[in-house]
Amino acid sequence: MRLDILTCLPELFEGPMNQSIVRRSMTKGLVEIEIHNIRDYSTHKQKSVDDYAFGGGAGMVLTIEPIDNCITALKKERDYDEVIYLTPDGETLNQGIANGLSLNKNMILLCGHYKGVDQRVRDHLVTREISIGDYVLSGGELAAMVLADALIRLVPGVLNDESSALTDSFQDNLLAPPVYSRPAEYKGWKVPDILLSGHEAKIEAWRHDQSVALTKKKRPDLLDE
Ligand code: ADE
Repeated sequence: MRLDILTCLPELFEGPMNQSIVRRSMTKGLVEIEIHNIRDYSTHKQKSVDDYAFGGGAGMVLTIEPIDNCITALKKERDYDEVIYLTPDGETLNQGIANGLSLNKNMILLCGHYKGVDQRVRDHLVTREISIGDYVLSGGELAAMVLADALIRLVPGVLNDESSALTDSFQDNLLAPPVYSRPAEYKGWKVPDILLSGHEAKIEAWRHDQSVALTKKKRPDLLDE
């Protein structure tokens, strides 16, 4: 999977995209992430990427030209399955959407800023709009990182234990069951006996029952879907 992330704040990606699973996926050659500074594609003397909104109103708008220049340059190199704009009014990300997107090979993620992007970017260049929740962030960068992380861990081979993405919460619309590790008893707080029994089938059944009970209690809406 290749992700090309378009942003006017490339420095924000330096830490999070260089840690743990994301980094391992890149060193293993399973995932490629390229960060592009929209400013590099501006033809203005001052390399500006934003301007006032036509018709007035507070807030700057990211202009179409540098974004189009960047997307056009990328599309000359390869075909893209999606051009995703991160925006609070997009469809809300969930595990099903992440699963579907994880099957794609090449995607562009566009991070908005200020009052957003010129509507013509959305109308003519973007193929999908995604929100990470009903709240407004200062920009699309954190949302792009959330989306990238959710997708990368689904790429086959990225997680050591292939089954571990399948047993995540939300796969099958169920929350994950509780997990325990050593010691079997700590300050009198015990691990459920069943998990120490060595009886695989019973343990699986217990985990499933726990998942259903937890989902009923915490997220009954998932069971209606
Ligand atoms: N940009 C600002 N807020 C956002 C959100 N909630 N999701 C995606 N992109 C955003």
